[in-house]
Amino acid sequence: MRNGTGAIVVMATLKGGSGKSTAAACLAAHCQLGGLRTAMIDADPQASLLHWRDLGDPPVDLSIVAETSEEVAQRARNLARESEIVVIDTAGFRNRTMIEALSVADLAVIPIKASPLDISAAIDTVRLIEEVNATEERRPRPMNYRLLLTQVTVGSAVARHVRNELAQAGYVLFDAELANRVVYAEASLVGRMPIHLDARSAAARDGEAFAREVRHALGR
Ligand SMILES: Nc1ncnc2c1ncn2[C@@H]1O[C@H](COP(=O)(O)OP(=O)(O)OP(=O)(O)O)[C@@H](O)[C@H]1O
Ligand SMILES: [Mg+2]
Repeated sequence: MRNGTGAIVVMATLKGGSGKSTAAACLAAHCQLGGLRTAMIDADPQASLLHWRDLGDPPVDLSIVAETSEEVAQRARNLARESEIVVIDTAGFRNRTMIEALSVADLAVIPIKASPLDISAAIDTVRLIEEVNATEERRPRPMNYRLLLTQVTVGSAVARHVRNELAQAGYVLFDAELANRVVYAEASLVGRMPIHLDARSAAARDGEAFAREVRHALGR
């Protein structure tokens, strides 16, 4: 955290469809309902978060701005002056905007589908983060990063296998996982997240555990 300003969390993966936008919206919703002043930046030209918000009638009570250019770093710094947490959703590929967002991140979250095929994409993302951390600007203040297993099939051994492989290779994962649940799609249809539909549902508990770990990692 930069001198009393809010924390900046960036969702980063070099693979599409890994669950970034869902994890971003879920984190922001739980932080906001948990009492943190929360802002979101949609840095993906697909504008998934803006589309999601527009499906809500009324729109969900979350501040979301679009910034897909290299200005994203300055935008995030500005928002962090008036918010306690800024969550940035990025596109699923390496571009200048992603690197600029990482350049101001306090924490990078790397969502990864619990599939062996997604491991290499996660490792490439970690390499990119380490490149950013090695820059002159970030070397004195490297960002923290963790992998988040998403779309986990409850009761299957695959997620455990992926978790063990990554942990053995030295990667740090959130204990929390976002299980594969149809309620994400149902909630999205009405511009909401599972916590807005039923705060005691299994999906809302996943989100709560994830948000709690993020807040703990950021000291918030
Ligand atoms: N935990 C989950 N359970 C069920 N469906 C999920 C879950 N997480 C994501 N999905 C679904 O998977 C699809 C991809 O998720 P999402 O859009 O969050 O990924 P993304 O990484 O942002 O994709 P993109 O790279 O296209 O931006 C969406 O249809 C979303 O509703
Ligand atoms: Mg997305």
